[in-house]
Amino acid sequence: MVRYGHFDDRTREYVIDRPDTPLPWINYLGSEAYFGLISNTAGGYSFYRDARLRRLTRYRYNNAPLDLGGRYLYLRDDANGDYWSPSWQPTQRELDDYECRHGLSYTRIASARGGIRAETLYFVPLGETLEVWRTRVTNERDTTAELSLFSSVEFCLWDAQDDATNFQRNFSTGQVEVDDGVIYHKTEYRERRDHFAYFACSEPLAGFDTQREAFLGAYRGWDRPAAVEQGSATDSVAAGWSPIGSHHVRLSLAPGETREVIFVLGYAENPRDDKFDPPHSQTINKSRVRPTIARWLDSATVTEGFTALTTHWDRLLGGLQVSTPDADTDRMVNVWNAYQCMVTFNLSRSASQFESGIGRGMGFRDSNQDLLGFVHIIPERARERILDIAATQMATGGAYHQYQPLTKRGNNDIGDGFNDDPLWLILGVSAYLKETGEATILDEPVPFDNAPGSEVSLYEHLVRSLSYTLDRLGPHGLPLIGRADWNDCLNLNCFSETPGEPFQTTENVTGGQAESVFIAGQFVLAAKELASVAELRGLDEKAAEYRAAAEKMTGTIVEHGWDGEWFRRAYDFHGNPIGSGENDEGQIFVEPQGMCVLAGVGLDDGLAARALDSVGDRLGTPHGVVLQQPAYSRYHVELGEISTYPPGYKENAGIFCHTNPWIMIAETILGRGDRAFDYYRRINPSAREAISDVHRCEPYVYAQMIAGKDAPTHGEAKNSWLTGTAAWNFVAITQWILGLRPELDGLRVDPVLPAAWNGFVATRVYRGATYEITVRKPIGVSGRVTRLLVDGAQIDGTVIPPAPAGATVRVEAVVER
Ligand code: BGC
Repeated sequence: MVRYGHFDDRTREYVIDRPDTPLPWINYLGSEAYFGLISNTAGGYSFYRDARLRRLTRYRYNNAPLDLGGRYLYLRDDANGDYWSPSWQPTQRELDDYECRHGLSYTRIASARGGIRAETLYFVPLGETLEVWRTRVTNERDTTAELSLFSSVEFCLWDAQDDATNFQRNFSTGQVEVDDGVIYHKTEYRERRDHFAYFACSEPLAGFDTQREAFLGAYRGWDRPAAVEQGSATDSVAAGWSPIGSHHVRLSLAPGETREVIFVLGYAENPRDDKFDPPHSQTINKSRVRPTIARWLDSATVTEGFTALTTHWDRLLGGLQVSTPDADTDRMVNVWNAYQCMVTFNLSRSASQFESGIGRGMGFRDSNQDLLGFVHIIPERARERILDIAATQMATGGAYHQYQPLTKRGNNDIGDGFNDDPLWLILGVSAYLKETGEATILDEPVPFDNAPGSEVSLYEHLVRSLSYTLDRLGPHGLPLIGRADWNDCLNLNCFSETPGEPFQTTENVTGGQAESVFIAGQFVLAAKELASVAELRGLDEKAAEYRAAAEKMTGTIVEHGWDGEWFRRAYDFHGNPIGSGENDEGQIFVEPQGMCVLAGVGLDDGLAARALDSVGDRLGTPHGVVLQQPAYSRYHVELGEISTYPPGYKENAGIFCHTNPWIMIAETILGRGDRAFDYYRRINPSAREAISDVHRCEPYVYAQMIAGKDAPTHGEAKNSWLTGTAAWNFVAITQWILGLRPELDGLRVDPVLPAAWNGFVATRVYRGATYEITVRKPIGVSGRVTRLLVDGAQIDGTVIPPAPAGATVRVEAVVER
């Protein structure tokens, strides 16, 4: 049992009490336009809007030691020359004590060495494009301390991809300016004249450095900068090479004295028509940023800004708070899982310890699912996001699998043909409607592929999504899989006559006959949702048509998608079943079991229960449910990328955490609360905190994957933070296990709890009204709500009709023996 910290539930912080965590344990700063990643040792980087194109500071991914590049401070005892990093990295000099508190959009790192304490708070104020580092240095000795404090950042030359590769140019383009103690980084300003960074300090400077080699010294690293070692900055002004920003401040502290030093790192953009500069001037418009800098170097502004940030989070999270018998559930639902959902909203899949910030854009499928986790927190932004995503859809109903947020163009090398993509739009929109009841969104004009003049209603986009599947049915009447479905790596149309041909070629998809049982299940779910939406619009005939299509597909699944004890996964290019007892490997996959039961397939005839029992027997592990079994022991060209992974990792039988909540939800649909909750706890990061040495990723957020039972590192997590796992787990626990589920006609209260619980209480803001909910249940009983009282009056069923905005509604749900 190894922990590296603990949860402070009162302050909503994770407190890391030793710096050498198994991996950098990170947090995110910023929630609007300016963002940063920050690790528990102050590693990370910052960017404005786009992690690739507007990166302020440099970061070295996949480096040794890990996590180099950060918001580093150095303290030096000028009496004896001893120096250290108060965040431990990069000097790694021993600290007498150390604590990192990751909170909601801020991080605080505190430590002490030799009687000198330093505490730094890092955050991005709301409404600003800058970050504040507020450092407080305290002399705990009984004699005066003469200290030097050095700040440091290494500037990235904006385009992170170019910065990491194009040295023949970049070693000559770097430019800075130092004016009135403020370091301005203005590389690229010459030709583009529109953006620069600034790095300022609240104290008078003893010196500064802006050229990396001058600060570090030749052949030295960030662990022992020459300027720090010598106790004086060199006042270097970078011309080319590697611009950095470093301030040198001298502090003379009486015994017990605390001094506050504030640093501000910011991004500024001059409008193109800014009359300040003559064309191609090298003079940046500092007058625009000086007032901002002055304001944020002021202690009172920082205190206010930080309070505003805390209030902001109180408001965001206040809409759903629960108190259950399980502390791990409470802290994930109330704080961390919701927070992670917001981070996926902001960052999509762009920048983490596992995503370099230069690769992927927005995923059509990913973003629609992320929405499920934050629509109740920021419905207006969810609305914008839906319209944004839908506008990238094609007239065929197909979608770019990924698109760049700025250009809205698809990433060509990834291409289309992920045949599950369009259906996620229906599920995303329906989640929005259920949460908000705001149906006017369906009439919003939305173009296809962002082409002006091609606008149709959002509702019509949903109709196209559904017909996209129906227009592409395969030999068994199941949906064609295309390049892949949810499982990006199951590439069944990649059969190649030529051994050794790469498996990812679009030609192979055209005419490919491989079919997906997963999409079939997803279609049934989406068709039923669309039917309800159609009814909302008075289109009863259409609704009946969609329900009939769902019914027909259900029949097809039962006929061709059932393997005897579980749902099959797919049919390959040749029509052979995948995920079937007939296969030697990959006999059972988790995805169709979850999705088919979610869609209601097999509920009446017992197939659902059998499928879920098979999941428990064959795919369950103490660390979660693996994706398939048996793992592929060798590469199969006809299956594609899935079998390129070694057994137990990623899609080849890893615990792909995204799929686990589908099983949790499916179990609640069958009323099996103990099983649902058991699966929930297996992957709940907080519940895994005690095995942090095995899990290795942050215990406060979900990771995409935990190594499966076939892997030598079974139980080890990877790819934390930016994953659809966040949204789906949030949905599973809040909507299905706790059962607080928005529907088109109101808020359903239909918990399916573990027998050991005696109930729970919750506050849920829904369509502007506040529901104070108490669920009571005798311990030892599993079962559904038998009585539902709304403001004291019993109602039929489990859906509470929406109360007027502003109202407070008391709800009592009782499960009787
Ligand atoms: C992708 C998802 C995909 C999943 C399974 C993730 O990396 O973001 O879109 O569904 O992998 O292949």
